[in-house]
Amino acid sequence: MMESPRIIDLPKFLDKRGNLSFIEEYKHIPFKIERTYWIYDVPGGEERGGHAYKINQEFIVALSGSFDVTLDNGSEKKTFSLNRSYYGLYVPEGWWRMMDNFSTNSLAMILASSPYSPEDYIRDYNEFLKWKRI
Ligand code: TYD
Repeated sequence: MMESPRIIDLPKFLDKRGNLSFIEEYKHIPFKIERTYWIYDVPGGEERGGHAYKINQEFIVALSGSFDVTLDNGSEKKTFSLNRSYYGLYVPEGWWRMMDNFSTNSLAMILASSPYSPEDYIRDYNEFLKWKRI
């Protein structure tokens, strides 16, 4: 059965010295972490993403600042606003993904289930719909 995109709350230790959150593979997110990348210094008004992965799953956290992630499976579109470092968005494979509305100094951390593979990307929306058979 296909998994659904969803917000996952992470553990948080609130402390007067500062807060702490963490992620363990398979425990807080449903996949093994094979890669981590981050997106930063995004100029105002820019968009990122605009592609889908055939097999890669991701978990996206706004470590700092805020941005929106829009997910589209060809028949349904959902927008999630990420603006805290103690929750993130789980993105299963097979969703068209777009990120925008980056605040100044925002930092997006992305955990991925597979190593970088250009062949796993679908960068053309019509090709994505064809791949989904919509
Ligand atoms: P790209 O996928 O276009 O970024 P976004 O998802 O935000 O649209 O990636 C930008 C460039 O970085 C592209 O040339 C591929 C490269 N890249 C890697 O080499 N390894 C990675 O893990 C990622 C995510 C990107």
